[in-house]
Amino acid sequence: MHVLILGADGYLGWPTAMYFSQKGWNVTAVDNYFRRNACTELDVGMLYPLPSLQERAQLWYELTGHEIKVIIGDIAEPEICRSLFTGTRPYNWAKDTSFTGLPEVIVHYAEQPSAPYSLLNYHYADVTVTNNLRVTNNLMFAVRDLCPTAHLVKLGTMGEYGTPNIDIEEGWIDIEHKGRKDTFLFPRQASSLYHTTKIMDTDLLWFGTRTWNLRVTDLMQGPVYGIDTYESEQNERLRTLFNYDEIFGTVINRFITQAIAGYPLTVYGKGGQQRGYINIKDTLQCVYKAAENPPDAGRLKIYNQIMETYSVNELAELTQKAARKAGYKVTINHIDNPRKEAEDHYYNPQHQGLLDLGVLPHYLTEESMLEMIRTVEKFRKNIRKDVIFRGIKW
Ligand SMILES: NC(=O)c1ccc[n+]([C@@H]2O[C@H](COP(=O)([O-])OP(=O)(O)OC[C@H]3O[C@@H](n4cnc5c(N)ncnc54)[C@H](O)[C@@H]3O)[C@@H](O)[C@H]2O)c1
Repeated sequence: MHVLILGADGYLGWPTAMYFSQKGWNVTAVDNYFRRNACTELDVGMLYPLPSLQERAQLWYELTGHEIKVIIGDIAEPEICRSLFTGTRPYNWAKDTSFTGLPEVIVHYAEQPSAPYSLLNYHYADVTVTNNLRVTNNLMFAVRDLCPTAHLVKLGTMGEYGTPNIDIEEGWIDIEHKGRKDTFLFPRQASSLYHTTKIMDTDLLWFGTRTWNLRVTDLMQGPVYGIDTYESEQNERLRTLFNYDEIFGTVINRFITQAIAGYPLTVYGKGGQQRGYINIKDTLQCVYKAAENPPDAGRLKIYNQIMETYSVNELAELTQKAARKAGYKVTINHIDNPRKEAEDHYYNPQHQGLLDLGVLPHYLTEESMLEMIRTVEKFRKNIRKDVIFRGIKW
């Protein structure tokens, strides 16, 4: 089986590439280094230096004998996107041996993934909207025209649903209206521009699925935490990127780093914001199980990719407890919420689908936090306090 992983240099993309590779799949890893370049441009340091995608693929090959083909290119360019399915690389000056035939599965991670980035100002809003929607649209047409039986596994986000005052279903809801019934996409109301692009992605793919009989799985994922995966434990240079800044860091990764740096945990407002969370190891399982279980042609399958829910206050308290065990004195600071979001709300998302496919969850515990603390503290001297909170408002 051949899988194309789009966005393979990223936080989730590289661990996913190794995961499929160790399962015996042929893996083609595609990225344009958008994320690295954005971190450099905005001067938000990663916790440790990251080898290039090619260097990591080479190291993986030396350690395991499994080859991961690497293609560096911008999938927002239609011709580059289509070349992934034809092997005719536009603008290419070097001999290209990366094409290994059509994929059975395409994992689509290749987007600008940060809410604060999307709301920095009109320029970054434009980058987010154009990049994310062009990538998804190009991919949809490339699959329709060049690889129509492939299974497209797309990363969406739980943020598409927002925080409605009713239970959140897995993607679809049955509605009875004036005595008639139908099934619709669950209502979505994002609280950032980035999340709004993910809603639009879902709409694009639902259009493509019902119009051209594509096979799509859209995974509504919650914020991911963690660093190491079983594959990266072989060599620390295989470790995925780690951001702890306000723009690209996800909340648990940020809190752990703040605890180690002696920076009070930045709880926005009342801290009653609830979300669904997932360990990076479970992201890999979920994407893999989803890939193994394609929907019928013409069906858009949606799973809620979370394992448990927490409020920000609960996360801060858990971080405090775990860090205390490791000898850190941690304080919690409620600061004015720079975001426009409910700070106290009902939240009950359903998330049984991926468990039914056989995913075995790794839950967030003091022990799993301590494990992360042990890794992050090795790089303590690299932590830059100035990137932790700059107060990006919307
Ligand atoms: N990390 C999370 O907590 C989380 C939660 C929910 C959903 N997601 C979604 O999962 C996906 C992956 O997230 P991540 O945290 O790994 O983000 P990431 O930024 O680390 O990874 C995305 C990768 O895509 C690449 N990319 C972006 N635009 C591209 C383009 N035009 N052409 C080629 N490559 C491009 C980037 O360079 C980056 O390496 C995203 O779609 C994100 O919206 C992530």
